[in-house]
Amino acid sequence: MEEERIVSAQRQSEDDSQVEIGLRPRSLNEYIGQEKIKEKMAIYIKAALDRSESLDHVLLYGPPGLGKTTLAHIIANELGVNIRVTAGPAIERPGDLAAILTNLGQGDVLFIDEIHRLNRSVEEILYPAMEDNALDIIIGKGPGARTLRLDLPPFTMIGATVRAGLLTSPLRDRFGVVDRLEFYNPAELELIVTRSARILNVKIENEGAAIIACASRGTPRVANRILKRVRDYAQVKADNVITGAVAEEALKMLQLDQKGLDEIDRRLLIALIEKFEGGPVGLDTLAACISEEPETLEDVYEPYLMQLGLLKRTARGRMVTSEVYTYLNITPTDGPQQKLW
Ligand code: ADE
Repeated sequence: MEEERIVSAQRQSEDDSQVEIGLRPRSLNEYIGQEKIKEKMAIYIKAALDRSESLDHVLLYGPPGLGKTTLAHIIANELGVNIRVTAGPAIERPGDLAAILTNLGQGDVLFIDEIHRLNRSVEEILYPAMEDNALDIIIGKGPGARTLRLDLPPFTMIGATVRAGLLTSPLRDRFGVVDRLEFYNPAELELIVTRSARILNVKIENEGAAIIACASRGTPRVANRILKRVRDYAQVKADNVITGAVAEEALKMLQLDQKGLDEIDRRLLIALIEKFEGGPVGLDTLAACISEEPETLEDVYEPYLMQLGLLKRTARGRMVTSEVYTYLNITPTDGPQQKLW
């Protein structure tokens, strides 16, 4: 279900990735938002370059769609090295990782997305690789087994995950730089939408960009996806210009409200109110109500609802806040009267 939502922050299709590659900024200067991370990374990159050393290992964490992969590409680009991109679940056996590591060039970046999903035996290969630039190969079995140590070139590991707490502590401890990506504010998203519209060759007015920005859930990936749909709408229903009015009509068609909440978000909040008197209710129970995995609810749906102040996590479970009633235009005793705009 999550895969089909226009507001899903998760990467959806090959098409999504292709579009993302075209829109992706290539340098720190071009990258909008995440000011604190950019400032720090610029210093670490310059220091490493001045010393002719590889950059320390970097762990980037935070909700999906905020630019972790983009940032990894930019870091490699700014360092003037190659990047090898893979993901935790794609590396099945220690030998797969050994093959990747032995093919890295001096100072290269190895980017592992969803690094928390590496299996244990693969993770153990990473420890000496990250700490001592060494690849330990076990030869033989049982009492006669020996370890052969191969040297690796210095390299920079960039790991990405939704929550740093999902990593085992020995892995987390091997990253010298650990940074959290934050949701983008509407002004930053407006700049991103305007920049993407320029690259996609579609005319957009400031009001149009502002409306798309507000509905993008703090997430550039969502902003760019909505922009593509609004562009279609503008092309067919308007004069190929995304004005404020055109953006508003297109969002209505997409059944998104001004803050980018869709039917599933509203269903979740309404279920909490109607079935559980606003909560608290356990994560698993709530996830079952909207037929989602608890992890997806926790990592994908909840962060934005919490950011909006509509939902809170308490020791006893999830609860709606009092703001939810105003937001959904219902009173605590009423049945739901949904109003989008
Ligand atoms: N496209 C997606 N994310 C971006 C960002 N942070 N800056 C510029 N363009 C982007």
